Amino acid sequence: MRMYDIILKKKYNKEPLSDAEIQFFIDGFTDGTIPDYQASALLMAICCNGMIERETFKLTEAMLNSGDVIDLSSIKGIKVDKHSTGGVADSTSLALAPILACLGLMVPKMSGRGLGFSGGTVDKLESIPNFNTSLTEERFAEVVNQCGCAIIGQTSDVAPADKKIYGLRDVTGTVDCMPLIASSIMSKKLASGADMILLDVKFGSGAFMKTEEDAITLATLMVKIGENAGKRVGALITSMQQPLGNRAGNSLEVLNIIELLKGVKTRLYQEVVEVAVKLLLLSRVETSEHQAELAIEKVIESGEAFERFVSMVELQGGDTSYILNSEKFEIGELFEIYATESGYISKIDTEQLGNACVDLGGGRLQKTDIIDNAVGIEMTCSLGDLVKKGDVIVKIFHNQRGLKQATSLIQNAFTYSENAPAPYKMASAYVDINGVKKY
Ligand code: URA
Repeated sequence: MRMYDIILKKKYNKEPLSDAEIQFFIDGFTDGTIPDYQASALLMAICCNGMIERETFKLTEAMLNSGDVIDLSSIKGIKVDKHSTGGVADSTSLALAPILACLGLMVPKMSGRGLGFSGGTVDKLESIPNFNTSLTEERFAEVVNQCGCAIIGQTSDVAPADKKIYGLRDVTGTVDCMPLIASSIMSKKLASGADMILLDVKFGSGAFMKTEEDAITLATLMVKIGENAGKRVGALITSMQQPLGNRAGNSLEVLNIIELLKGVKTRLYQEVVEVAVKLLLLSRVETSEHQAELAIEKVIESGEAFERFVSMVELQGGDTSYILNSEKFEIGELFEIYATESGYISKIDTEQLGNACVDLGGGRLQKTDIIDNAVGIEMTCSLGDLVKKGDVIVKIFHNQRGLKQATSLIQNAFTYSENAPAPYKMASAYVDINGVKKY
């Protein structure tokens, strides 16, 4: 078999590749016998001519088996996982893990670090002093068996083929391709070993998918990949018309989670409940949405979910005094941003708000950048609010760095209108093996 022929087959004949050809590509590229330039040529041909489902399933399987497949068999019970395609102020996992653990599910969660405008769960947790996101596999399982949840960073041995391929896609204009995105995400998720997976597929400003239609197409493909691999998978389609939570920045987002778990119905509450409901239904712990919602509310209102979060932090070495007394978190200096016009907030450029956090030092432009946990933004308004010129719409928390750029990005991220915009819907559809359900 020759890589040259495989490239031509995809390029000229637009033919589906055989399983053996896909395996040959992944094996050869992972072990270095296929060079970057040939891999890039094939990736571009895939971008232009697509892949049928069978090819996408095989590509996922080959990437998944290119490295370690995490064995969670020592964790007793139903193991669930959640994946977000990336958002601003998305700290859903931090609240979701203890809530689901209180309701009998096991949440052994592996998460990523942030890059660019989108934050990472691991970075947020590391703003809690001494919190250890690099547990060994044995300790990870022990913590989950003890308190029902643990959150650690992705080990570098998961799906190494995807890591190499993604590196090439990033610099060859081959990121935005449905089969490549779907197989990339699912190879890592399937390698993480959970029984059930809930995907949160975002669309709009600051998301990979710009339209709801594309998000549904991607979600449908990922659900099929999961089912083909024997996992129960569902996907919530959510809008990025505004940041998910009203605070963005590592320590600020942990503060948000503490409030949420104490029962404050912040903007993120709706997303957390929505995702938790879907996982309770997918895992058949609950059979009705209403019952699932009641159960979630109960563990929050009783303080059980908050206590579970404290236990997880403690078991992962974190300083729980910060969770019990959140004033201990160091937060940057306050600078307020005012509405430049009177009217309804009709549009928010979420990506620019995320970029403002990066400018303040709260995110990374390069993998090696060090994050300032104390900085970020707090929105004091939401999409559709009626504001007067001069009202505070955003509070910036800064440590001098990047304030000017962040201020300008934030001011330009808001559009005002005379008329109220259509009501904001965070989740617009749900996709599972039975099809698409629009809300
Ligand atoms: N996230 C991934 O992990 N892979 C992609 O291709 C796109 C988003």
